[in-house]
Amino acid sequence: MAQQQNKLWGGRFSESTDEFVQAFTASVNFDQRMYAQDIQGSKAHATMLQEVGVLTEAERDAILQGLSTIQQEIESGEFQWSVALEDVHMNIEARLTELIGDAGKKLHTGRSRNDQVATDIRLWLRDSIDAIDAQLLRLLQGLLTLAEKEADTIMPGFTHLQTAQPVTFGHHLLAWFEMLVRDRERLADCRKRVNRMPLGSAALAGTTFPINRERTCELLGFDGICENSLDAVSDRDFAIEFCALAALTMTHLSRMSEELVLWTSAQFNFIELPDRFCTGSSIMPQKKNPDVPELVRGKTGRVNGHLISLLTLMKSQPLAYNKDNQEDKEPLFDAVDTLHDSLRAFADMVPAIEPKREVMREAALKGYSTATDLADYLVRAGLPFREAHEVVGKSVAYGIEQGKDLSEMSLAELQQFHSSIEDDVFEVLTLEGSVSARNHIGGTAPEQVRLAVQRAQHRL
Ligand code: ARG
Repeated sequence: MAQQQNKLWGGRFSESTDEFVQAFTASVNFDQRMYAQDIQGSKAHATMLQEVGVLTEAERDAILQGLSTIQQEIESGEFQWSVALEDVHMNIEARLTELIGDAGKKLHTGRSRNDQVATDIRLWLRDSIDAIDAQLLRLLQGLLTLAEKEADTIMPGFTHLQTAQPVTFGHHLLAWFEMLVRDRERLADCRKRVNRMPLGSAALAGTTFPINRERTCELLGFDGICENSLDAVSDRDFAIEFCALAALTMTHLSRMSEELVLWTSAQFNFIELPDRFCTGSSIMPQKKNPDVPELVRGKTGRVNGHLISLLTLMKSQPLAYNKDNQEDKEPLFDAVDTLHDSLRAFADMVPAIEPKREVMREAALKGYSTATDLADYLVRAGLPFREAHEVVGKSVAYGIEQGKDLSEMSLAELQQFHSSIEDDVFEVLTLEGSVSARNHIGGTAPEQVRLAVQRAQHRL
């Protein structure tokens, strides 16, 4: 029987694919996004095939030229994508044969779509990781600049969202920095396992042709080859790993977002975000909403979802390739886009944060934020910490009753609670005294913030 519908695999079929099934099983609408990596992989494969004597020089040259033409056609929008040709791989291969004839039909020698698609995704994800890293680095640099500028700015530090102790705003920003530095380390670590080459595994068992995988590996800039063909065509753990770090990075951005949203509220009023990162309300004329952080906080949910999608996709798949794996792309693509764009928005926005230093300071003066400092003072005067805690607790209760902060009480008032309190107590009860006393690595003192920024610059 004649080959049906000009499918590249139509030889053994005697009836056409059901039209709905054809559309249902196709991936070209989304995997065409990997066209550049598909062409890159095919060029390396063809180059290697000629070197080992499977293709002639003329065949290789025709293939390389044809693939370049196709790339131009795709980039100029002339390329006709066909759902009947299922995916990006067969669309490009079919067009190649149309352009250069029989040599095009030889490109797939010693290769399968199974190792081809696994190679394309890894190349695509590698490029995406590098683009994400560039945005992450920009954000980290922005945080360091702002942290240095705000090393002396005092704000309340919170636990349970209740005023706890005064901290410097620079120190708070450096906490964000640390979270994101770990995310960057995870990204670099993930890249090592992404950057391994499946090509040469063919459908599942390898190929009978005398291929040179080391050569293809070198041409494609992979760090090494995947050692086992069955594993190479089937596992998508590298994509799962990426989604896991993406979900974690988004979680960090979401925590930052939550704070930005709180701080821009009339109740906190700690910062101003420039108008270009906010939008208004169609009904309430006074509103200026922190849309960018809110949206980033919301988008965290979809990336978490993609992680679960991919874990569930992989679970229970027997070796080797299964069509299930075609479902890896949309979650991965969306996780990449969401993380990239969220980081980009944050990298643009963070340097534009305008702290309202006076408001932050006023807020730190409320809520007895220097109570621990008074307790530490009493410990230095010889009291056991638990006793000091009790004494300060009583003075805070008195302050609440009188509507006075500890620093607003007279020496006589303070001495009612313990006789060893002297005039020098006021040095530790001021906000500046409190933050600058925490003067060790990892502490909030302005001096430590400046040193931490210097060290951080070397770490980037
Ligand atoms: N479109 C497929 C995918 O995304 C390509 C590999 C298909 N291989 C196969 N034997 N059907 O996974």
